[in-house]
Amino acid sequence: MLPYVFIVFVLSCAYLPEFVFSQIVPVTNDCPHPAGVLRATSSRQLLLTPGFVNGQYPPNLDCSWILKAQNQRSKVELTVFISRIEDRLFTDCDDFIEVLDGEQSGAPVAARWCGSTHPFSITSSTDSLYVRFKTDANFELRGANMSFVDYEPPQCPQGWLFAATGDSCYKLWSPRQRVTWVEAQRLCMYDRSNLLTVSSADEYRSVIGMYSVLADEPWIGYSDAQFEGTFASVNPTDPVWPPNFPTFGNSHEGKDCVYLNLKVREGVGYAVDDCRAQRSFICKKRK
Ligand SMILES: *[C@@H]1O[C@H](CO)[C@@H](O)[C@H](O)[C@H]1NC(C)=O
Repeated sequence: MLPYVFIVFVLSCAYLPEFVFSQIVPVTNDCPHPAGVLRATSSRQLLLTPGFVNGQYPPNLDCSWILKAQNQRSKVELTVFISRIEDRLFTDCDDFIEVLDGEQSGAPVAARWCGSTHPFSITSSTDSLYVRFKTDANFELRGANMSFVDYEPPQCPQGWLFAATGDSCYKLWSPRQRVTWVEAQRLCMYDRSNLLTVSSADEYRSVIGMYSVLADEPWIGYSDAQFEGTFASVNPTDPVWPPNFPTFGNSHEGKDCVYLNLKVREGVGYAVDDCRAQRSFICKKRK
């Protein structure tokens, strides 16, 4: 009984984007400028934009936070639960959140958004992320509810799973608002990962073992959008697996993207769908 309960518990933690908070940072009314430093730990901490709790951010803000891991070997992961920010009128966002990959205001942009679409999760390449929230004089909305945590590779970040024998971390994202194949790959890349591609039968079995109880049908990283009938990995240098890749009956016009049917117990549970269909997805990153 006990091992079963344990496995279900681990899986449901990975599956649901809800987290247990052991510590909450009260930054709600704080708009540091210049940037304030928040120390990330292995406990998830909340980062709310000013006014979020009352339902509206003030005009003319320019707040910045440096999220810094406990040590230089660690990475910071920022999760965005909710983000409601004035949408762009033309090409530029007047109000926006920008996440830079580093601790300086001049570090490369990892993500920048307004409106209601946003990254789910962003991972640093070094030990820091720089988060900036800027608003203009008009149209104040609710703002963002985010959280951050650090982890030290080769550990996987919170909410990611690993196979006992492998060198990768996996995450099945199953949001209420599902996404197209291209959007799924974009969301994986914010976390320095790609849509899942498989490198061996062992890895395939491990992934199915991790997620089959969920009976979901997530996008994975194969498509033949480039050359009809020739499936390729999202990272073109990775070979496809299995090498004798399924042909899906040869007539799958308009269905160029591969998803994984987690209920299939025999053989390989790949199937194809219109790339614009909205699905959950699995990201994979090397440790
Ligand atoms: C922020 O989101 C988390 C996760 O969904 C939730 O538990 C928390 O209550 C939210 N905070 C506020 C102030 O809405």
